[in-house]
Amino acid sequence: MSAVYQTRIAGTGSYLPDRELTNFDLEKLVETSDQWITERTGIRSRRVAAENQVTSDLALRAATSALEMAQITSKDLDAILFATVSPDQLMPNTACVLQKKLGARDIMALDMSAACSGFIYALSIANDMIVAGSHKNILVVGAEILTRYVDYKDRDTCVLFGDGAGAVVVTRATPGETSKIYSHHLHADGSISDLFQFKMGGSAHPYSCENIEKGLHRMHMKGREIFKHAVRTMSQSCGEALEHNKMSGADVDWIIPHQANLRIIEGVAKHFGIPMSKVVLEIERMGNTSAATVPVALDRAVRDGRIKRGQNLLLTAFGAGITSGSILLKF
Ligand code: ACO
Repeated sequence: MSAVYQTRIAGTGSYLPDRELTNFDLEKLVETSDQWITERTGIRSRRVAAENQVTSDLALRAATSALEMAQITSKDLDAILFATVSPDQLMPNTACVLQKKLGARDIMALDMSAACSGFIYALSIANDMIVAGSHKNILVVGAEILTRYVDYKDRDTCVLFGDGAGAVVVTRATPGETSKIYSHHLHADGSISDLFQFKMGGSAHPYSCENIEKGLHRMHMKGREIFKHAVRTMSQSCGEALEHNKMSGADVDWIIPHQANLRIIEGVAKHFGIPMSKVVLEIERMGNTSAATVPVALDRAVRDGRIKRGQNLLLTAFGAGITSGSILLKF
């Protein structure tokens, strides 16, 4: 199908909670060290939402900034796609809660669950909706409060995750504009879904004292295995993006990867011979905020002037599932 319309990222926004949890703070909770965490992950601190904040509150701050930059109001939106694995509650979806908080019209509002790849999935689908001509202005959000699911007795996971929100407003580009999403490539391999799981709350493991005693209300991860698949899957989907568009690493101005581990990111950049100076890195002070890492990193690099209009950006992520994907776009 040939594209009729093009998608433009008209605005970006992000929000990180004020409270910082440093590696030194974690040293007091579990047997770990700032040196171990920094060397193995590149993370020095992460943000933790205030007790009275829920995921939609973080999203509201990011969405409001993105709408301001796009110079439209919430009334102009015709869809909200909300990527999260830490929704406010199971029902209603958090997109509807955000719709209400924003004062948006009666529009489509949908949560999307693909873990850390959630934003890449949601932005890809938003692009297809705009290209197909069914929608003009879509708010795409990635927001998480993962610290509520972290076991601060489990050093394997508690050092990695943080809270945050990022958002973009995508609009139908006006004729003659160069901004566009060239392509997206999405993948999932459910055969290795046991590598990262959060079991309780679903139909397989409903809420019960017994399941809490079994520790099913916390995240469980096979970190070393995920690491290998992360480098492999992000390299694969970035390779597909470049090949599909007959480009090489040299044509990319910035890679914006999921910020899970600095060594994973270095592995992907090395695979394409792309210098780390062309990688947007925000992991040091943010940690892994799952679906929020890519839109937060994008927004921060747009706002501090690293990313400029007309540049080619390669977004990529992997997450539980195992899901993965890439988006190549001209900003
Ligand atoms: N502090 C100190 N030591 C630790 C810690 C810690 N926080 N955590 C683990 N260790 C120890 C281990 O017990 C192990 O000890 P041993 O050698 O005596 O057995 C040693 O450090 C090495 O452990 P590894 O697991 O081999 O360490 P690795 O270099 O693989 O780093 C890490 C672990 C950081 C988890 C890495 O594997 C990783 O980042 N994996 C990807 C995780 C990820 O991205 N998860 C999110 C998925 S995306 C999503 O959907 C949210």
